[in-house]
Amino acid sequence: MPRPSVFVTRLLPGGAIEFLKHHAAVRVWREEEPPLAEELVQQAARSDAILSLLTDRIDANLLSNSPRLAIVSNMATGFDNVDIGAASANNVLVTRTPGVLSETTAEFTIALLFATSRRIVEGDRSVRNGQWKTWGPNVLLGVDLAGATLGIIGMGGVGEAVARRGRALGMRVKYYSRTRKRDLEKELRISYSSFTSLLERADFVSLHAPLTAETKHLIGKAELDLMKPSAVLINTARGPLVNQSALYTALSRQRIAAAAIDVSDPEPMPPDDPLLTLPNVIVTPHIASASTATRSRMAMLAAENLVQALQGKLPKHTVNRNIARQWRERVRGRFTSS
Ligand code: DGY
Repeated sequence: MPRPSVFVTRLLPGGAIEFLKHHAAVRVWREEEPPLAEELVQQAARSDAILSLLTDRIDANLLSNSPRLAIVSNMATGFDNVDIGAASANNVLVTRTPGVLSETTAEFTIALLFATSRRIVEGDRSVRNGQWKTWGPNVLLGVDLAGATLGIIGMGGVGEAVARRGRALGMRVKYYSRTRKRDLEKELRISYSSFTSLLERADFVSLHAPLTAETKHLIGKAELDLMKPSAVLINTARGPLVNQSALYTALSRQRIAAAAIDVSDPEPMPPDDPLLTLPNVIVTPHIASASTATRSRMAMLAAENLVQALQGKLPKHTVNRNIARQWRERVRGRFTSS
């Protein structure tokens, strides 16, 4: 039986690619930038499985033109780059990599809280621009995190890790989420809040919700108007959760005090984006999960998910479990994964 054919859409840190090679014939896209859509479609058409990244659009066109493709192992917690409906319709299993990046992403979120509250980027810029004339009692005054209210929207793995850190810093933590977590509320002494009340009361609003049709532009003009003028918006989840032109207006009119966003819409953010003209916004290039250890763990988990699926098993982190039965029928006896 021929070895299964696997396409990996970028070079990965750690041992993930070597691991895959023990189980399949592996082709790797070695460029720094992702394959263009047409290239990806061509590669997918030759593959039994793809290890994809959040930069790869796995859409209906690709899925319906890839008759061999049975597995998409997405190296991310989020899977908004994959058309799950089309994958299920084409009997393609989709997996993801939750959990392993929660602590690292939470650390970065807290770094953005510190950076905005203590104006770290502005301070660095002022030194480089020769504006540091003297120690001044009124220079670059910020706000304390201790005692401030952190509002977390989305209480999955990352939201929870942020809540723990917020509490450790002496913050009051409120959260809004689809699912209420009463045990966690007791354990961390955090409180559940309505969406509106969270926006009205939080000093820092941090987004940790997945991107879906319902959460697109979750934060627009109406929501920004509810926030305190002193409030800060942090987004380390997905760019389209925020209506970026509404954010620009709110920041430029000082309707809210500041924002720090690690994700944008589109990505990459073009260098002429109006947000980049504002002093009260920090933009980083989607690096919240970017520690060597975590990216290696994400890559390995994605590889393990893929290999399990090649072995006909349903990986724990399968997104479309609803197709399990017909998918198993489809792949039964089809692959030797070693
Ligand atoms: C994810 O896993 O969805 C993150 O955005 C990757 O950094």
